[in-house]
Amino acid sequence: MSIFITGGSEGLGLELAKVYLRQGFVVGVCSRKSLTNEFIEKEIGEGKGRFFQYRCDVRNRSDLESALRQLNEIDPVMMVVANAGIDKRKPLQSGFSHYEDVISTNLMGVINTIDVAVNLLCPRRTGRIAVISSIASLYGLPRAAPYCASKAAVNVLCESLRHELKVSGIDLTVIMPGGILTKMTQPKKLSPFGALTAARAAEKCARAIEQGRRRYAFPKPQYFLFQCMKLMPEWVLSRLFKKVYE
Ligand SMILES: NC(=O)c1ccc[n+]([C@@H]2O[C@H](COP(=O)([O-])OP(=O)(O)OC[C@H]3O[C@@H](n4cnc5c(N)ncnc54)[C@H](OP(=O)(O)O)[C@@H]3O)[C@@H](O)[C@H]2O)c1
Repeated sequence: MSIFITGGSEGLGLELAKVYLRQGFVVGVCSRKSLTNEFIEKEIGEGKGRFFQYRCDVRNRSDLESALRQLNEIDPVMMVVANAGIDKRKPLQSGFSHYEDVISTNLMGVINTIDVAVNLLCPRRTGRIAVISSIASLYGLPRAAPYCASKAAVNVLCESLRHELKVSGIDLTVIMPGGILTKMTQPKKLSPFGALTAARAAEKCARAIEQGRRRYAFPKPQYFLFQCMKLMPEWVLSRLFKKVYE
């Protein structure tokens, strides 16, 4: 059985790939850039015989479909993880030009991934789909409007689809991580509660997916902070954002 992970060339996706390789699965990852043999040797090591990489952009549905089909021919795909995502944080003064990039990758990329996964898994009436959203989907953060909006849309999309997919024997899990130490977060200030390593976050994601959780948000302190933000008075939010962003 194999597992397909979008955005598996680094960060959380790569660490998830390592978790599943350790569990004995065949794993296929896709990303826009190709991985070198040296990189695969260093990062994957022993599992490299069961690791396959595909160069494709999640915004391109037919490339995605072709990558998934190729992996399925090697070993039947039983799970697809829609992990690829980008975050371009910019102040309003920088304009809206980056919005399309973020929304097309984080939302349309997930829709394309679910679409190709459903076409493959539904006829068999078994399989799993996991989608990596974010705790940032729970409250619109300053400078991160397209990111937060795309992740919030993903949550609602999956809420709808989970019920429909269940009927077809497909389980859908949405994961909402908080801060993780990856390239995405390197130059930024993270939540006051700090961040997890990508390896630790990947273990938590894999466990929640295996348990068939509908939604899983972690770490809990960050989850509760974001939930509380909805109830906080404006002056508290202003102070909080000032602390985080200045
Ligand atoms: N890091 C955090 O704190 C955090 C928190 C919550 C949620 N998340 C979510 O977790 C997921 C992984 O994030 P990360 O932190 O691991 O980021 P990362 O280290 O920047 O890795 C992102 C991965 O996605 C791939 N990717 C980006 N755009 C793509 C596209 N159009 N088509 C195919 N692959 C694409 C990248 O490869 P290429 O550049 O080669 O395409 C890379 O493999 C994202 O959905 C992110 O929103 C992250």
